Amino acid sequence: MPLLSVRNLVTEFHGRQGVARAVDDVSFDIEPGEIFGIVGESGCGKSATCRSIIKLFGGARARIAGGSIEMDGVGNLVERPEAKMHEVRGSKISFIFQDPLTALNPTMRVGRQIAEVILRHGKVSRAEARERAVQMLRDVKVTSPERRMEAYPHELSGGLRQRVVIAMALALQPPLIIADEPTTALDVTVQDQILRLLLDRRAETDTAIIMVTHDLGVVAEVCDRVAVMYGGQIVETGTTDEVLHEAAHPYTRALLAALPSAAMRGRKLTPIEGMPPSLIAPPPGCRFAPRCAHAHDACRAARPPLAPRAGGAPGHRDACILDRVQ
Ligand SMILES: Nc1ncnc2c1ncn2[C@@H]1O[C@H](COP(=O)(O)OP(=O)(O)OP(=O)(O)O)[C@@H](O)[C@H]1O
Ligand SMILES: [Mg+2]
Repeated sequence: MPLLSVRNLVTEFHGRQGVARAVDDVSFDIEPGEIFGIVGESGCGKSATCRSIIKLFGGARARIAGGSIEMDGVGNLVERPEAKMHEVRGSKISFIFQDPLTALNPTMRVGRQIAEVILRHGKVSRAEARERAVQMLRDVKVTSPERRMEAYPHELSGGLRQRVVIAMALALQPPLIIADEPTTALDVTVQDQILRLLLDRRAETDTAIIMVTHDLGVVAEVCDRVAVMYGGQIVETGTTDEVLHEAAHPYTRALLAALPSAAMRGRKLTPIEGMPPSLIAPPPGCRFAPRCAHAHDACRAARPPLAPRAGGAPGHRDACILDRVQ
């Protein structure tokens, strides 16, 4: 039984220009303890997918317009009333954003912020919550944790702040952590330390992690499976090995081709020629067809389903009709 099962998810943003379907019929499963990567160019719906799971859209006018998000032991999050979502956030699913400052209260000492998370969900005394907060900081390898407890967010470096956010995310030992570009704002050494921390955590507690990243090096290093998104849809998914070494979809191949072959680590995805589709009025059929060197009429006629190739591994699926029709 998967920990999380997302089926046919549709999420729309209502903006001045119209309704953008940022997530358009997305399905995937997360197994307990696995690290699942989501990659793709800017604006393809990675964050929208993550935000749909916890139903927090940062003030944007967004709504889940279809599909289901089943969590083991919790039920369908899409149907769950907002008043009951706070029981899920933090204790079942926690979230690490790209910019740790947005996750922290600038006017409160960080120790108190971690303790508050623990207090809100558990039956513990203030003193116990504080003790646990110090331990959490120690767990995420913050030196002199007692002293750091007294700091305000602006007094800490970016790397330390992200550790505080991770300590808060881990505080209630949720079975699922969503990390949306958790290391993008940090320098490479700190990036490595933070990734190591998340990997250690997974090894110790079997926490599953959804890891959004632009960096295929990060995917190669930490992810068990990966989904490649394009224009609000998953165009390829499989184990990290399958997707990085036997890429099937022309979009995935283009992403990989845009990388210098040897040193993948630390490289960002280079944009592919042409623009990603508008999510307000996307092209019919395959959304990558306008940029695809192999596209023909059938590609533009109907959306190709995400399906395994003949003779391929069943879990390795892609949404390209080429190779399949012949
Ligand atoms: N606040 C918003 N208001 C209106 N539309 C939005 C908003 N946020 C996202 N969208 C729409 O949703 C689409 C997907 O955005 P999303 O933030 O999920 O992309 P992303 O893949 O996370 O990109 P990035 O790599 O830049 O973080 C955007 O292209 C845009 O059309
Ligand atoms: Mg994003």
